[in-house]
Amino acid sequence: MASSQPSSLAAPLDLVIFGGVGDLSVRKLLPALYMAHLHNTLPEQTHIYALGRQAWDRSAFLHFIEDKVRGFIGAKAYRDEVWASFVRRLSYVSVDATEAADYAGLKAEMQPGADRVYYLATAPSLFVGICANLKAADLIDGRARVVLEKPLGHDLASARQINHDVGQYFQEQQIFRIDHYLGKETVQNLMVLRFGNSIFEPLWRSPYIKSVQITVAESVGVGSRAGFYDGTGAMRDMVQNHLLQLLCIVAMEPPVSLDPDAVRDEKLKVLRSLRPMAVADVARDTVRGQYTAGAADGEAAPGYLQEENIPEDSSTETFVALKAHISNWRWANVPFFLRTGKRMAARQSEIVIEFADLPFTIFGDSAHKSVNRLMIRLQPEEHIQLQMMAKEPGSGMKLRPVKLDLDLQTAFAERRAEAYERLLIDVIKGRLTHFMRRDELEAAWAWVEPIIEGWKQLGEKPKPYTAGSWGPAASSALMAREGSAWVEEA
Ligand code: BG6
Repeated sequence: MASSQPSSLAAPLDLVIFGGVGDLSVRKLLPALYMAHLHNTLPEQTHIYALGRQAWDRSAFLHFIEDKVRGFIGAKAYRDEVWASFVRRLSYVSVDATEAADYAGLKAEMQPGADRVYYLATAPSLFVGICANLKAADLIDGRARVVLEKPLGHDLASARQINHDVGQYFQEQQIFRIDHYLGKETVQNLMVLRFGNSIFEPLWRSPYIKSVQITVAESVGVGSRAGFYDGTGAMRDMVQNHLLQLLCIVAMEPPVSLDPDAVRDEKLKVLRSLRPMAVADVARDTVRGQYTAGAADGEAAPGYLQEENIPEDSSTETFVALKAHISNWRWANVPFFLRTGKRMAARQSEIVIEFADLPFTIFGDSAHKSVNRLMIRLQPEEHIQLQMMAKEPGSGMKLRPVKLDLDLQTAFAERRAEAYERLLIDVIKGRLTHFMRRDELEAAWAWVEPIIEGWKQLGEKPKPYTAGSWGPAASSALMAREGSAWVEEA
């Protein structure tokens, strides 16, 4: 069986959030659940248990979350009466996740006969203990599902360990490894663009595609996450998961169906086809950067080393650019350029498919070599554009690039749910297609780990870049060597 099925749509549902008053819960999970409640997409008898160690009663809990969660819901969607009915679905349970005895209190509160979803929004070091304690309290049955939040490991060995540990208590089809990029509307739309249209597929390969760029640029800095981020860095935080998942969706073969394993088998093949990097490749084809003081979003921004709680000699990277190759028939000789960073010039996430150069031009100097591009913008707004060449009006045959614009905001009046909301509903419905399978996660680590190891061996400090820029000059040089340039259009 490929997907985990709830017992029946009418069964009550208990959603238990470990780390229920933590940052992720307050910023993403509870707001997403509020939105689902507002739009009536939660099963009727859904109850949410936010777990935390604080010895709070209900009113202390509500007091804590009220302002915080409301701030993340957005004024347009927030309504007093909806909030009041939403919090009736919510309980706070004081549980020390490492204390087996505390689980009796949780069990006593839960609805009899309910389907159970456990969302582990905690440090992964707690995962196995939580699973063991749930099991000991007889809270795991064949219908239970567990959601694992990243970081899922620090390297291949620790990822395997987590998978092994959780696998002692849950079957693979009960495990939802979340990568919220897979919940983004445009990312899911990329699958429709590729497999719901016929015009791209014949061209979606070498030699008709010259290169692929995947950029996830953020204008924010490390913020208050120094403790987590400094031991992690951009490679583990972003490339290992979000960027490689985007790469998979661009590069995978058409799956036979939307069945979770059909899709994940194809993504796994891509990950396994990534050409491994030796130290010399790492030196040539990757760039690590770290931001220095500058300006972001119109305000002065400190450098990474001046951020609160960052060691002044930290060599953690806040930027990565690299060139990857996929060794298979479809993608032979097509470089995939990946780039991500904090404190960059803009919050901009984009996939750019650069089609092949014109083999020959009859239009003289006004014909560019590199002409057709498909640009899939994920953030801040969602749109898909195809750059074509057109004739400038007037006499003569002068060419100019113009864009065919698929403006998804205008085309669809429907509400676009945020990634976490969409993925939480998938979990509730037992749909695994947009979650990572164990072997996928491990294959991604297997490719990333030698790069991190290579950086260690090379012993170089990350290259500085000014906050508010597009990253170190070496990142442009990496592209220039291939006759390309990052597309940086607002
Ligand atoms: C998270 C990373 O997974 O993704 C963060 O841990 C990052 O460092 C975030 O800021 C970016 O997500 P989004 O949806 O804002 O692009």
